[in-house]
Amino acid sequence: MNFDFTEEQLMIQQTAKEFAEAEIAPSSIERDINAEFPHEIIKKLGELGFLGMMVSPDYGGAGMDTVSYVLAMMEISKVDASCGVIMSVNNSLVTWGLETYGSDFIKQKYLIPLAKGEKLGAFALSEPEAGSDATNQHTLAHREGDFFVLDGIKNWITNGRNADYYLVMAQTEVEKKHKGITTFLVEKGIDGFEHGKKEDKMGIRSSDTCSLIFTNCKVPVENIVWEEGKGFNFAMNTLNGGRIGIAAQALGIAVASLEASIKYAKQRKAFGTEIANHQAIQFKIAEMATKVEAAKLITMQAAALKDAHKPYVKESAMAKYYVSKIAVECALEAIQIHGGYGYVREYLVERYLRDAKITEIYEGTNEIQRIVIARSLLSEH
Ligand code: CAA
Repeated sequence: MNFDFTEEQLMIQQTAKEFAEAEIAPSSIERDINAEFPHEIIKKLGELGFLGMMVSPDYGGAGMDTVSYVLAMMEISKVDASCGVIMSVNNSLVTWGLETYGSDFIKQKYLIPLAKGEKLGAFALSEPEAGSDATNQHTLAHREGDFFVLDGIKNWITNGRNADYYLVMAQTEVEKKHKGITTFLVEKGIDGFEHGKKEDKMGIRSSDTCSLIFTNCKVPVENIVWEEGKGFNFAMNTLNGGRIGIAAQALGIAVASLEASIKYAKQRKAFGTEIANHQAIQFKIAEMATKVEAAKLITMQAAALKDAHKPYVKESAMAKYYVSKIAVECALEAIQIHGGYGYVREYLVERYLRDAKITEIYEGTNEIQRIVIARSLLSEH
């Protein structure tokens, strides 16, 4: 596999890096403390084409490949993983799903503003009793004339209060179990749709997470995405690509942890010399750097397979599983290298740990990723 990036891919990476350093970094500590949504930053990311990166220009997108998306996600998440997840959900879970499975009506009405960054999307699969066990959907939808009526609760929804359009999975035929689940595009503000409490999170605090409550909520039939009964396949297929985005987010945090550690080790003195001269620190840095390189390769492999239209289910699960794990390990080591300074907000590395932890949980826990990997291997041989 060739990982020589094209000039265009490198330019996208550079644009993301410069934007993140100039526009995202200055407010990141304050937004983390106050759990404040980055409205202005997200608007500007939209103007740069970073909210519909892989969508065709025919539908308002930037027409870039998955490799470019990974490079941009990595640079944004390196500076602020909260902005990373907002961007990731709109790109991988919402716009990709709508472009791949949406009707022309859905694409014209909803995909175009989402891809242009004029509107923001959310993906609502999880429920109070359906996290890893995602087939156990309790949100119900029944048909009444030209509408479906939704009742139920969705939990832990990224972009919860700030999204405009929501992809909601609901059970339309209970007896058919996961084959009776359907995806609906629901607009914010319609009758019977309310937001639940905003979650007070450990990390990615400047992204917004809340529950969604549907009570007798009427959604037009034409807002079904793909077709009735295809909602679970829609969710699974979309999440396969989403996991590449989360791997890229975790990669950004791991790279940030490594770079902060190297910088600090060359400045901080102990026992009469910079701590970078102590083998105990050198071993940690070497270990982190090796993991980061492996993480880059496994993430790029999944992205390149997706771009080449080759199977990538196993590889995206592997990337998400491995990179999220090493992001947590690298953030922990960065704190250890920083000592007491690593435990206070000013040096950022304590946030890297809090932000990294969620990458082992959302878009399928790492236990689920290993199930996906094992099932894939066992059915191959
Ligand atoms: N890709 C495509 N299809 C898949 C799939 C995958 N990775 N995994 C399962 N499927 C399909 C199966 O082929 C099967 O399809 P058919 O019936 O059409 O043949 C169907 O899904 C059911 O699969 P299983 O029989 O294997 O069902 P299961 O209950 O044993 O396992 C599961 C399903 C893999 C555990 C699934 O429930 C799962 O992935 N759970 C995790 C859910 C998840 O990732 N949630 C993330 C929430 S969104 C989020 O986090 C966004 C955010 O805020 C950032």
